Amino acid sequence: MKSIIVYYSYSGNTEKVAGILAEVLTGKGEVQQAELVCPDESKTFLGQCRRAISHKRGMIGPLNFNLGAYDLICLGTPVWAFGPAPAVNTFLDKCFGVEGKNIVLFTTYGSGAGRERCINYMQDILAKKGASKFRRFSIQQLKVNDKDFVISAAKEAL
Ligand SMILES: Cc1cc2nc3c(=O)[nH]c(=O)nc-3n(C[C@H](O)[C@H](O)[C@H](O)COP(=O)(O)O)c2cc1C
Repeated sequence: MKSIIVYYSYSGNTEKVAGILAEVLTGKGEVQQAELVCPDESKTFLGQCRRAISHKRGMIGPLNFNLGAYDLICLGTPVWAFGPAPAVNTFLDKCFGVEGKNIVLFTTYGSGAGRERCINYMQDILAKKGASKFRRFSIQQLKVNDKDFVISAAKEAL
């Protein structure tokens, strides 16, 4: 099985979960990780919220947006103002080759406000592009260092 884990992480929580998910998936075949870097992201909490709440698209570097080669596509984001981070919105716009694919959507979050809305937003965009099999999990920010907890949440979603 060939998998890719695409994620954005501003302060490292989603990156930790992506790393643990990669370990879980390594036992099942080839795994690639692709971190989305967003050079035009705001550096302030309010600026980030403002951009996220209006579903702004962030700048992301040259990437392979063709996901046709992967059996499993994982996409992770921090929940920002009830939605994905702008870098992830751009990736959702640009990616293709997801028809009939298995998708795992994951988030990390603080209070939990908007975490379902965030994942639903991602799922709707990928569903419109033809993806049909979705699994999802979310990890509260205080749990990202609890490796066993993250492994069991990831395994349950897989
Ligand atoms: C700009 C901003 C907006 C946020 N909005 C939410 C939110 O709406 N709901 C929530 O549960 N957590 C929210 N959080 C908390 C983050 O989702 C949480 O800290 C996440 O783990 C950060 O992931 P990262 O370290 O990968 O960037 C927000 C954090 C930031 C910086």
